Amino acid sequence: MSVAKREYKRVTVKSLVEMKEAGEKISMLTAYDYTMAKIVDGAGIDVILVGDSASNVMAGHETTLPITLDQMIYHASSVVRAINRALVVVDLPFGSYQSDPKEALRSAIRIMKESGGHAVKLEGGKEVKESIKRILNAGIPVMGHLGLTPQSIYKFGTYTVRAKEDQEAEELLENAKFLEKIGCFAVVLEKIPAALAKKVAESLTIPVIGIGAGNGVDGQVLVLHDMLGMTHEFNPRFLRRYLHLYEEMTKAISQYVEDVKAVDFPNEDEMY
Ligand code: KIV
Repeated sequence: MSVAKREYKRVTVKSLVEMKEAGEKISMLTAYDYTMAKIVDGAGIDVILVGDSASNVMAGHETTLPITLDQMIYHASSVVRAINRALVVVDLPFGSYQSDPKEALRSAIRIMKESGGHAVKLEGGKEVKESIKRILNAGIPVMGHLGLTPQSIYKFGTYTVRAKEDQEAEELLENAKFLEKIGCFAVVLEKIPAALAKKVAESLTIPVIGIGAGNGVDGQVLVLHDMLGMTHEFNPRFLRRYLHLYEEMTKAISQYVEDVKAVDFPNEDEMY
């Protein structure tokens, strides 16, 4: 059952809690550049995530690990210049918050000051609690991320569904409650069983946003390039493609190449 969309001039972390309380699902997508962010914001998205998935879809790396803090700030500042309404959450990249809480705070402050983003996201639970607390103490909103956390891919060894076993599921629930207790404003759950995700969402008062976590959560997030069908080799079960831009763009660009070769472009009307 859907609930009427609330009118917000600007979405804030407080608006997200209100949406959860009202039973309105939260929409979230990634964006990494000005032009795409302008379209996404104009279409009425609630949250734009400047995800470290930029490492994959923008830079072509196999994992999210190589992207740097400077690169995340560059992407985030381009996004922030485009938006009028959405809340902009920026990923803290691998290596910018795990080793030392002071460094975590410095990284978060750089993101807020240099990009103009509204909040940061980081991966993990109790193991990064000191970093989270320090960032929160500086007044910076933090979104958690549990389940399949891509920055730990070399620990997992695979991108398969997490927390299928009881022990990992219990730990995940405990970590989610912990993140809420220390003050995170929302949590992303990635690629976990739908029943577990629903249980987490029902146990927390802060919003739980899922990717590959079923429909019992408070909102959904997808990587923009995946849902637009620009990436065509990535086919997880949870992904719904709303367009097939890989094929459409290939067709358009091939046509342009043909037109240039045939001296069909530009024509008389396209010249000065
Ligand atoms: O970086 C990203 O795009 C993310 C989403 C998958 C949640 O963290």
